[in-house]
Amino acid sequence: MSSIYLEELSAVGAVRFPDIPLYQGFGAPLRLESDLRDCEVTYGEVPKDLNGTLYRCGPDRQYPPLIGDDIFIDGEGMVNMFRFENGHVDYKNRYVRTARYKLQAKHRRGLFGRYRNRYTHDPLVGDCNPGTANTNVVWHAGKLLALKEDDLPYELDPDTLETRGRYDYSGGIKSVWLSAHPHLNQVTNELLTFAYQAKGDGTTDVVYYVIGPNGKVKHEIWFNAPWPGMVHDFAISNDHVIFPFFPLLTDVELLKKGGPFYTWHGEKETVVAVVPRYGTADQIRWFRGPTSFAGHMMSGSTEGSKVSVDICLSRGNSFAFFKNADGSPVNPAEGAPHLTRLTFDLASNSADYKTTQLQDVLCEMPRTDDRYQGAGHYRHGYVLCRDPKSTMAGAGLGSLGHFDLRTGNAEVWNPGADSGVQEPCFAPRRPDSPDGDGYLLVLVNRVAENRCDLAIVDAQNVKAGPVAIVKLPVRVRMTFHGMWVPQEALENRRFDVVRRN
Ligand SMILES: [Fe+2]
Repeated sequence: MSSIYLEELSAVGAVRFPDIPLYQGFGAPLRLESDLRDCEVTYGEVPKDLNGTLYRCGPDRQYPPLIGDDIFIDGEGMVNMFRFENGHVDYKNRYVRTARYKLQAKHRRGLFGRYRNRYTHDPLVGDCNPGTANTNVVWHAGKLLALKEDDLPYELDPDTLETRGRYDYSGGIKSVWLSAHPHLNQVTNELLTFAYQAKGDGTTDVVYYVIGPNGKVKHEIWFNAPWPGMVHDFAISNDHVIFPFFPLLTDVELLKKGGPFYTWHGEKETVVAVVPRYGTADQIRWFRGPTSFAGHMMSGSTEGSKVSVDICLSRGNSFAFFKNADGSPVNPAEGAPHLTRLTFDLASNSADYKTTQLQDVLCEMPRTDDRYQGAGHYRHGYVLCRDPKSTMAGAGLGSLGHFDLRTGNAEVWNPGADSGVQEPCFAPRRPDSPDGDGYLLVLVNRVAENRCDLAIVDAQNVKAGPVAIVKLPVRVRMTFHGMWVPQEALENRRFDVVRRN
């Protein structure tokens, strides 16, 4: 194809993504919305006691990016839903119609520049809210919300996925955006969430909110972080919320020069705030430790004076798409995450904390039986991991892992060559089933076939592989996070969970 022809296409606004690996193969933008009633079941039987909906969310570029090359976590939010009813599974996916999506649709091109850098946007953006709603989906207080940490949530219809609009909890949220990693306590029906850089780019303000079962802000605590950095996730225990601050920092002056939103500062330490769940800012205890990083938290626990969190910790930056402050790439060996317990002793006057690696399996995207978030004690954790038996050079985190935190046992299911799994979501067998008694719902990337399966795995027998496989004729581009919502929780607008242990 001649360059003159390409220039002509460009002049009329043809959609053509840059010819770079980010937009090729399994990661190529899908840009397709679909409905499929009664998916094929190619293996086993879908358990008839699984009734409800799996929601998942990830980025899918609506238009080629304004700057040509960017990081893979950017792109418009695409929400996927799998509705389970008496052994049948129906599939649907829809873009979230954010303000950004609608503005770009109007102009038929990408308008937003470098990731979260407002100084690189097209002038047509003006004061348009920049959020993509591409990171997570949560069902709470009768609302289905699509989340991205640089904007407020967008509310969706839980049956049609139609976008209802941007949502600020009836004016209750005063931060300029909200985290994409709230943690839901399914016994109290409270949503614990937060915002960092809560008053805008480069601010050190942090706010922690408890949203009650009626959808109203019930409690909030404002405090200041040690620096304006990324706080992608936090952890909740039965009595506390825990905010680790890692040295992935935002420099507004760098943004004004067109630079990245975050850079890694490996010379800085780790700072952790342990916050009483319903307390005040002056009750926060601060701890300090060696340089480290964790993208995601599994859960936390408070027992007596000891508060602990289990997180996927690395010595250096595991979000390698953000570079070092001097522009050099991060050291991959330092960014290798392992499930690690940090323990803080509130009875001690020391600012030190204890670090204990729990597993030697490389892992990320940790999940639990969601009914045990905020319960303190919990036994079962589920992760994306690298199969320890894999002999493939450079094998990624493409296998499904189960960690029994009581016995220390680890089980892994490897989906095979040319396949990889996405983050698992746990679905309990019944509302009162014991911790870990249920299923893992796992999207499996069938790379060679350019499509996905949804695998249903017995959460107590992960190494056996799926009990059923639901076939999709299409690819689900890598989703980040999501949740299982039992049918009765959709209908009752609350979770009626009874914890047995
Ligand atoms: Fe995340």
